[in-house]
Amino acid sequence: MTTILVTGGAGYIGSHACKVLASAGYTPVTYDNLGTGWRDAVRFGPFEHGDLLDRARLDEVFATWRPSAVMHFAALSLVGDSMKDPATFWRANVGGSLNLLEAAVAAGCRKIVFSSTCATYGDHDGVILDENTPQQPINAYGATKRAIEDMIGNFGQAHGVRSVIFRYFNVAGADPEGEIGEFHQPETHLIPLMLDAIDGKRSALTIFGTDYDTPDGTCIRDYVHVMDLVEAHVLGLKWLEDGKASRVFCLGTGSGFSVREVIAESGRVTNREVPVIEGDRRPGDAVQLVSGSRRATEELGWRPERSTMGAMVADAWRWHQNHGAHFRE
Ligand code: UFG
Repeated sequence: MTTILVTGGAGYIGSHACKVLASAGYTPVTYDNLGTGWRDAVRFGPFEHGDLLDRARLDEVFATWRPSAVMHFAALSLVGDSMKDPATFWRANVGGSLNLLEAAVAAGCRKIVFSSTCATYGDHDGVILDENTPQQPINAYGATKRAIEDMIGNFGQAHGVRSVIFRYFNVAGADPEGEIGEFHQPETHLIPLMLDAIDGKRSALTIFGTDYDTPDGTCIRDYVHVMDLVEAHVLGLKWLEDGKASRVFCLGTGSGFSVREVIAESGRVTNREVPVIEGDRRPGDAVQLVSGSRRATEELGWRPERSTMGAMVADAWRWHQNHGAHFRE
């Protein structure tokens, strides 16, 4: 069986990637320091505990498993933290990715699927983002991800590393079979915070700003179901296996939901009241971020069929009710 090294495989997106890789016949080997991930989320292949900053450990894992490709999810990703402590973000994200690329090349592994973000674009309010939108990150998190994209490109020129880079933004939902789901500590994302408010784990959801220049005054985002997202990663892997050239793909649905629309849909799906407080704007929030995915649909054959708000909330809610508190380190 073909082995894929999955950095961050104990995290939200990485664990779902391991599940689809395993069902597609690959052996996903998780490499994770459990800084923000969960040992219980590693269920679909071997686990190697390790940090990207530990080059010797990386070399050891490459030598043990001889992966044919890397899927690189591991990163620090809280935008607010990245502005307070950029050094930690640059060290972990950029330094860690440099170690990973060097270890991969040293081991003869020259295929990488990289998890990048629309945060590399910065503020383009009202514009539907695509692969050609200029990248002007407005926070350190986005800056580190853009730097890693550049680094991967340079390793391509110098060492023949071929890459598929995915840029995405708001990932939501959970494995429809309920084995894994979203669990962050601390939680900052809209849908899990709302589900906590719905079932009384927190008193209310605060809407960050109701005076934006949008139809209902709240921010608009493009939400992609985590299963659709990771299926794109498997298609990206096959793209590289077919010998195709390095490529960047945006993964969005092209349509946005306002915070109020997400709240209304969550109330409908759960059949419960959503306790809401109307609060101030959150610093750093763009008004509208919607990403197209024409290239991914045309070239990869990607079909984000689960990415309806109803399906994302229903899958997240099922996970939240049955398993959400059960992950442990
Ligand atoms: N929101 C609220 N109340 C909350 C939480 C969020 O109103 O309690 C709003 C936000 O203001 C925003 C929308 O809900 O308009 C979505 O917010 P999230 O925090 O869920 O997601 P973001 O769009 O802010 O963040 C996304 C990803 C991050 C990534 C970041 C990069 O979810 O992982 O973009 O800029 F780091």
